[in-house]
Amino acid sequence: MFPQRIISVSDLSDDQIGEVITCAKKFEKTLSGKQPLPRVLEGKVIATLFFQPSTRTRLSFEAAALKLGGEVLSMENAEINSSTAKGESIEDTVMTVGQYTDLIIIRHYDQESVAKAALVSPKPIINAGDGTGEHPTQALLDLYTIKKRLGRMNNFKIGIVGDLKNGRTTHSLIKLLARFEKVDFTFISPAGLTVPDWLRQELDSKNIPFREVTNLAKYLSELDVLYMTRIQQEYMDKDEYQKYQSVYCLDQVGVKQMKESAIVMHPLPRVDEITRSVDLDPRAAYFDQVRSGLCVRMALLKLILDR
Ligand code: CP
Repeated sequence: MFPQRIISVSDLSDDQIGEVITCAKKFEKTLSGKQPLPRVLEGKVIATLFFQPSTRTRLSFEAAALKLGGEVLSMENAEINSSTAKGESIEDTVMTVGQYTDLIIIRHYDQESVAKAALVSPKPIINAGDGTGEHPTQALLDLYTIKKRLGRMNNFKIGIVGDLKNGRTTHSLIKLLARFEKVDFTFISPAGLTVPDWLRQELDSKNIPFREVTNLAKYLSELDVLYMTRIQQEYMDKDEYQKYQSVYCLDQVGVKQMKESAIVMHPLPRVDEITRSVDLDPRAAYFDQVRSGLCVRMALLKLILDR
């Protein structure tokens, strides 16, 4: 059975990841054709509980459910708009929301909260980002985009750039890609924003090699995938943010140094780490990632709920 709790990319087997990719590809084909989408979520209600801001993750999950015939209960700014503001625990919140819905999608600022919710939830739970922990569905859509654009999920060089200490998208992506053969990792960050110890230990325990550097320009010409991320102001004090702000910026000059077959990715939102002039370059894949997000999240909802 497909997992009913997706807190980490580790919750999915290799076969289940393959199922997600295959199903997402079918949905993407249907979306761009004339055939109607199957209404596999008819009669199902999903809830999106977001304790942190989001544009893509919440709206793409909601669009995915609606396109497949499901319905949505949406709670944005849940810290203020739900009874959390009166002191309710995350456990009581999901025990309640689980009475109304068939699946709960949660984004929370605290790294432990989604896992705590999953322990008691009467309904399936998907982690839509847990503080500085993981963002597993982003990693799945990133993998799907890599497969679509490079034609393979192994044997490539990836440079992952930015706030690797706090970046939950990068944590999940690194964990996921480490499962594939010959993925050559270069982590590019300021010395104060390197990958956290828990992730370093996980890579070391599996003998996955990686190099850690600070200079982006030096590596551009050798990469197949450049994965840019923003410096995350919400996890820093003002002084720290000022120190790291704008440290990396990919512009038209930089992207032209890359291989013609390479791709530039970004989970978005971006601040100033990729100039808008790069958007028209054929290597820019970040709005393709947005499209992938819809298809991958449709696939996940179908695989979890259409039993
Ligand atoms: N990539 C991502 O998680 O975007 P949002 O914060 O807009 O959901």
